[in-house]
Amino acid sequence: MLLLMALALPLCACNGQKKDQKNEQTVETTVKKDFMDIAAERYSVRHFSSQAVEQEKIDLILEAGKLAPTAVNSQPQMIYVLRSEDAVAKANQFSPCMYGAPQAFLFCYDDNRVCRRGENGNFGEIDVTIVLTHMMLEAWNLGIGTCPVGTFRQDEAKTLLGLPDNIHPILLMPFGYPADDAKPSDRHKAYRNMDEMVEYK
Ligand SMILES: Cc1cc2nc3c(=O)[nH]c(=O)nc-3n(C[C@H](O)[C@H](O)[C@H](O)COP(=O)(O)O)c2cc1C
Repeated sequence: MLLLMALALPLCACNGQKKDQKNEQTVETTVKKDFMDIAAERYSVRHFSSQAVEQEKIDLILEAGKLAPTAVNSQPQMIYVLRSEDAVAKANQFSPCMYGAPQAFLFCYDDNRVCRRGENGNFGEIDVTIVLTHMMLEAWNLGIGTCPVGTFRQDEAKTLLGLPDNIHPILLMPFGYPADDAKPSDRHKAYRNMDEMVEYK
């Protein structure tokens, strides 16, 4: 019996090691690369085709947003999918940055759900921005372009869309199929050097 255990132990240890090595390899060669491809290829699309995005794709993009982390998992986001003729016309009225998109997400947070920060603050803008980022990257993964937009009149958006008082609009994101001539802006690849923005302590 002892001899059997002695023989089996190194075998188990060896299997475990192999498994770990395999896991490490998967992470390095597959997951990171796929994500980095998406992150590197995505750019802010500023000319959209008029083709509507299929509901199936919108569902997947929204699902990616649902998976995003939020402070204390409060999930204060409220996302409006603006795609009726009326809603898109209103978006064009309260923002100059719809870029011809036939639909847009309006990202808001709900003051009744948001996690408070200190005396007067909250995590709403941060939460919503992380949700947007998840959705922006999943959209690109599905061949859908986006542009995060801060240039819009929040009060006007609220009034025109008839949003309740507790809902705070933070960012607009037109999305859709990029037009044939869509291309990244000159700013897209103007990255600062890593050593200017990262410091190891
Ligand atoms: C918080 C935020 C607000 C932005 N607001 C606008 C905007 O109002 N109009 C616009 O055209 N792009 C806007 N952008 C897009 C940025 O200009 C763009 O992400 C940046 O220039 C880098 O280019 P890239 O997205 O193509 O990599 C915004 C991006 C962020 C993150």
